[in-house]
Amino acid sequence: MEKKVSYDAFWMPFTANRDFKANPRIINRAEGMYCYSDKNAQLLDATAGLWCVNAGHGRAEIGEAMAKQVAELDYSSPFNFGHDIGFEFAERLVKYTPVGMDKVFFTNSGSEAVESALKIAMAYQQAKGNTGKFKFIGRELGYHGVNYGGISVGGLTTNRTGFGPLLQTDHLGHTLDIERNAFSQGLPEFGVEKAEQLEQLIQFHGADSVAAVIVEPISGAGGVILPPKGYLRRLREICDKHDVVLIFDEVITGWGRLGHAFAAEAFDVTPDLITSAKGISSGVVPLGAVFAKNEIYQTVVNNAPEGAVEFFHGYTYSGHPVACAAGLATLDIYEREGLLHRASGEIGEYFQQGLHSLKGIPSIVDIRNYGLIGAVQFAQPAHGKPIGFDILKQCYDKGVMVRSMGNTIALSPPLIIEKQHIDVIVDTLSAVAKKLEI
Ligand SMILES: Cc1ncc(COP(=O)(O)O)c(C=O)c1O
Repeated sequence: MEKKVSYDAFWMPFTANRDFKANPRIINRAEGMYCYSDKNAQLLDATAGLWCVNAGHGRAEIGEAMAKQVAELDYSSPFNFGHDIGFEFAERLVKYTPVGMDKVFFTNSGSEAVESALKIAMAYQQAKGNTGKFKFIGRELGYHGVNYGGISVGGLTTNRTGFGPLLQTDHLGHTLDIERNAFSQGLPEFGVEKAEQLEQLIQFHGADSVAAVIVEPISGAGGVILPPKGYLRRLREICDKHDVVLIFDEVITGWGRLGHAFAAEAFDVTPDLITSAKGISSGVVPLGAVFAKNEIYQTVVNNAPEGAVEFFHGYTYSGHPVACAAGLATLDIYEREGLLHRASGEIGEYFQQGLHSLKGIPSIVDIRNYGLIGAVQFAQPAHGKPIGFDILKQCYDKGVMVRSMGNTIALSPPLIIEKQHIDVIVDTLSAVAKKLEI
């Protein structure tokens, strides 16, 4: 007998609840590249869930590792107690991080990783004797999760307004420059000078008051905005000059999305802290992390008296044994199947060519891509609201799940994607785009 579920009680996140509940899109099953709706429609997952299911859906071995761990040790406090699997996972993870970044602080989500990174940066500055450094700098259109630190440094207006006073922050301008860079393949050519805004902001606030700068190497939720060539390196130089901690929020860009373990490696720029989540467990279980340079860890830890807690921060579920088991199994899959580097090879190239074949459709004003992340931006309709959500619905009806933000459609498929899936995504977008009357 068909099970009848009520949609009333679940207050859905970042969702138009009334619109959704009037016309629900329910996904009850997933496998490989596909999700399946309650009506048994097969849907190609062009977004890896929310940029997270990097190894593809339904990886039985991750579930098996978790079940085994529950039977062995379901939970143990991470405050003043430890468990082998937590230390084992940490050691394994830092093999992927840039040289000299061998410490990891566990969280349960990207938002918590951001909060933790901001607090680590602050604790580091205090421990160093930079006692006036309390301000953070974020970037317009940046997304750093939804907690108060994250929305303070974040640059998406709707996420910031209406939530009362935020932390003391300032923001760099975003780097989207369609006029000069439209339809760039990979990193855009123009805009390195935008990094100089950081110098200006630091001068404006005073170098002795700025603790850290946080940017996504590629802004995801803000519309897939790429850094112009040389931009991130210049941010690094300016941070070095003024003793400002540079945080890369790699919640999306980590774990193979750009064809490398991290964007830091892809772009050859090493920040001081990296936030991570999503692909770290291929989305199977909530898990996040902050990777810290050894110097940051040493400075904070050595600043406290012997035997004292050095950093008053942590979560009940930091390094949860079941999440660590899921994470280890995920890394096994990434390694065995070469998934962390797949996006920088032939499939990434095919994705790029496929997306850019849409150029010329009148409603499309820009196409952006790197590795296995991409965006197609549509013209703002002359009258009415942005078009992205309508396009999402039309693609869904045609069997492809995409993400919309404003007039932009974002794509970030599982890293197991094959050419025939890319063809379907491109054909679907093409069919929808050609029918749009903008
Ligand atoms: C760059 C970035 N940082 C932080 C977050 C927040 O992660 P979570 O939703 O796991 O809290 C996200 C989520 O999309 C993100 O894209």
